Amino acid sequence: MKPFWESEYLDREKSTFGKPSKEVEDIVPHLKKGARILDVGCGDGRHSLYLANIGFQVDAFDISENAITKLDYLKGINSLNVNTFVCDILDFDFKYKYDLIIVHGVLQFVEKTKQSSIIELLKKWTNNNGYHIIALFTDEEPIPPDLKDVMIGVFKEGEIKEHYRDWQTLMFDSYKFHDEHENGIKHCHAVNKIVAQKTVD
Ligand SMILES: C[S@@+](CC[C@H](N)C(=O)[O-])C[C@H]1O[C@@H](n2cnc3c(N)ncnc32)[C@H](O)[C@@H]1O
Repeated sequence: MKPFWESEYLDREKSTFGKPSKEVEDIVPHLKKGARILDVGCGDGRHSLYLANIGFQVDAFDISENAITKLDYLKGINSLNVNTFVCDILDFDFKYKYDLIIVHGVLQFVEKTKQSSIIELLKKWTNNNGYHIIALFTDEEPIPPDLKDVMIGVFKEGEIKEHYRDWQTLMFDSYKFHDEHENGIKHCHAVNKIVAQKTVD
């Protein structure tokens, strides 16, 4: 079964995941002019478009062709510059270090055995004093039936903090929220969010 967002990415009128997250808005004053940003698993680009509109240099990729087609359409009609790629997080070929990397709602779709090396790679390709914003689902709530095939890497509560022990954690949040996908499946998600800064190189 394809995840619900694939059909929602075909709807060009509505942002699939709503407005930019607060922690993305909150980091903006801390970024230098023209900062280079990577949006991993960007979806239809709520964060990429918001950040490009401010004037940052944004690279964005997603494994979903539907997501990138919609993001390309939205950047075009809004005359925004976002470098987009269809790519699996496991295959992304880094060319630059970034001042901010966002991985919002993506890592739980990656196999558990691959998560540590991906996070380490993202950390390596981050400039000193750069930031990561990570949001992911934990196993404190069951996986909704329509996402069973894709949600293969849910995290333990607090597990993500262990990956950032050598960085400075600026914010950590743990909460639950009710959700209902377009197909009418009601469920609850348990979320961990972390904002961390690389303070050593
Ligand atoms: C819940 S959506 C979040 C989208 C976006 N980050 C946001 O916050 O609006 C998860 C996205 O991760 C993408 N994704 C899942 N696995 C991926 C992978 N291995 N590599 C790149 N993107 C992936 C999906 O295609 C989907 O667009």
